[in-house]
Amino acid sequence: MNKETLKKNLREIPDFPKPGILFYDVTTLFKNAECLQGMIDELYELYKDKGITKVVGIESRGFILGGALAARLGAGFIMARKPGKLPAEVIEETYAKEYGTDTIQLHKDAISKDDVVLLHDDLLATGGTMAAAYRLVKRCGVEKAYVNFVIELKGLNGRNAFEKDVEVTTLLEL
Ligand code: PRP
Ligand code: MG
Repeated sequence: MNKETLKKNLREIPDFPKPGILFYDVTTLFKNAECLQGMIDELYELYKDKGITKVVGIESRGFILGGALAARLGAGFIMARKPGKLPAEVIEETYAKEYGTDTIQLHKDAISKDDVVLLHDDLLATGGTMAAAYRLVKRCGVEKAYVNFVIELKGLNGRNAFEKDVEVTTLLEL
């Protein structure tokens, strides 16, 4: 996927959700048919030979491409959700936010140790959310888990939230 096309179609919203924050709005990437297809194609090319059996999408903006990619890869799709949303027995990890903490959950039986997992989300900021989801997946006994984001905010050094051996890819660096 041409990075300039992605960049051109990504809407920037100043002062959202609060003054001083420049919000990158991925809804405009999902809305554009060329971008949507292009992102799915690029992700498919990146992961088609990795033997992925489960794609984990992070609530909520990680569900869109995560689901599409899982179908394309012939893998299952798993929702990593915010607390209280998953109906069956869960495992959870808590992580630090700018103010306070947040928690992410997976169904206890969602992933087995022989799965090869790709975790996907729209945005790498501090990395806290994805690092917690990654820990959850590893707690399931998985040996290999890959991590992908659409956008990486380079200035926040979110990659530091992961050990050096974790393979992290991003489609667009800002
Ligand atoms: C945003 C974004 C990532 C996460 C990135 O989601 O979609 O999931 O924050 O932040 P981090 O790298 O600092 O952890 P948000 O929690 O706003 O929820 P949403 O996707 O449901 O809108
Ligand atoms: Mg999110």
